[in-house]
Amino acid sequence: SAPTGAETDKKDAQLAHHRENAGEAYLTTDQGIRVSNTDNSLKLGERGPTLLEDFHFREKITRFDHERIPERVVHARGSAAHGYFQVYESLADLTRAKFLQDPSRKTPVFLRFSTVAGSRGSADTVRDVRGFAVKFYTDEGNFDLVGNNIPVFFIQDGIKFPDVIHAAKPEPDHEMPQAGTAHDSFWDFASLQTETTHMLMWAMSDRAIPRSYRMMEGFGVHTFRLVNAHGRSRFVKFHWKPLLGVHSLVWDEAQKLAGKDSDFHRRDLWEAIEKGNFPEWELGLQIVEEEDAEKLNFDLLDATKLIPEELVPVRRVGKLTLNRNPDNFFAETEQVAFCVSNLVPGIDVTDDPLMQARLFSYLDTQITRLGGPNFAQIPINKPVAPVDNHQQDGFHQHRIPTRKANYTPNSIGGGCPHLANLANGGYVHYPERVEGEKIRKRAETFADHFSQARLFWVSMSAPEKEHIVKAFRFELGKVEREEIRQRMIVNLTEVDAQLAKLVADGIGVDVQTALKTVGRRPGKPAVAGSSTSPSLS
Ligand code: HEM
Repeated sequence: SAPTGAETDKKDAQLAHHRENAGEAYLTTDQGIRVSNTDNSLKLGERGPTLLEDFHFREKITRFDHERIPERVVHARGSAAHGYFQVYESLADLTRAKFLQDPSRKTPVFLRFSTVAGSRGSADTVRDVRGFAVKFYTDEGNFDLVGNNIPVFFIQDGIKFPDVIHAAKPEPDHEMPQAGTAHDSFWDFASLQTETTHMLMWAMSDRAIPRSYRMMEGFGVHTFRLVNAHGRSRFVKFHWKPLLGVHSLVWDEAQKLAGKDSDFHRRDLWEAIEKGNFPEWELGLQIVEEEDAEKLNFDLLDATKLIPEELVPVRRVGKLTLNRNPDNFFAETEQVAFCVSNLVPGIDVTDDPLMQARLFSYLDTQITRLGGPNFAQIPINKPVAPVDNHQQDGFHQHRIPTRKANYTPNSIGGGCPHLANLANGGYVHYPERVEGEKIRKRAETFADHFSQARLFWVSMSAPEKEHIVKAFRFELGKVEREEIRQRMIVNLTEVDAQLAKLVADGIGVDVQTALKTVGRRPGKPAVAGSSTSPSLS
């Protein structure tokens, strides 16, 4: 593989320890017994039945029978690569996170790109959101930034995630379509849940058919917190800016490529890295002081909203370089487990209800997908930071604890892991003050579903607008039920009358009839005035 110069980093050394040597070797069973013949099963006579005692045959077939694990419930199709991250200058004023303080430190990373809806064998160039998940193996433990290539999300509360995904995945009776959005159930949900409108605009734009993984932006989507050594917290949105720029396919190319080379993005990434054309992204931060959050005319906890870059510029603070392809797809790309709650001191979460659901969901799903609770011991997931605790047992336990006592505190066990405090690197959650009643209710500040969709539309150039109209026409033109098409058109009238009319004309819907049949949509205008360009002043 391509020269990496990263052989010396800790993660590489750790992975090297697990690699098999392909030198002179005998074929053996899993028990290390050398095999004399692997082409013929052990039979009673040349043409007789195979014998149960043929342990090599039984082991070989059994292992084959169990090769598959469940694919990810979403983002099943992906491609990944190794690399490193380096900060340009110390961000100590913003965060305690050590990997963001030392410009000489190269933090190893593993980045997995993905589509969302398709199964593991689906095509790369479908119209879909792309996952952009980065694992930083820092000296203070693993930090995962599990983002997408679109800065907002379809829903505001994670309790709706099973609904949006069920609607987007193939329909339950015939398992079609395999990927993409062109079907009734997706548009049924989208049209009924108006908070999807902003993300739908992005999903119908060129952003959803990228030219290459190397030419995509990435976004942490949620508002996070950065907390410095003095305990001062600021809100932050994370961005990844590709140094190759942002480029997309056009729809005709995307469709043809899906047929001709369904591995188009996977191949592009692999070949670029093999040739030494290492893709790079700059990490960007949008910082909002706590006291400024209230001045925005949207809620920072609402993941269907972005912070306009004109309002809060993106500060570029470091660079990520991908410089090595995985050795083995299953061991690395398939078994890697990202989790939004993998956080290091100095980076914290917020009360965004979408984020809160994610803090639970990833670890939970991985217990099934990766066969039990010990998947952090799998080489690709293993932190380079030392791991020491009293977690024990479970499927696939590889550690052999030697302490007598497996509880804290104890006085008999031959040492007990220390508890860390703030000063020596302990993770201390930001002590946010929260008060309120226990209720199931969406905040009023989440009620505006259309202003930023409109902002997106008006920011597009003429060709980009044309692509969006054509994408809506293509997708909604495949929707069989008249009432769903009408509902979507009415939602689009809330974004822009011209957009709604152009789409409606292409799918045989009359805007006025639709408005009469469907009525007004629930999303309300922005909380602080109806301006589409909020201000911090
Ligand atoms: C997987 C991003 C919302 C549940 C993923 C992956 C990405 C991602 C990039 C693939 C990770 C990989 O490459 O292995 C996002 C973003 C979201 C979002 C940016 C919104 C801002 C949610 C929500 C839930 C959820 C709300 C659940 C409540 C999952 C699950 C997986 C997944 C279960 C599969 C994980 C695995 O099997 O390892 N997500 N997601 N996601 N996501 Fe999300």
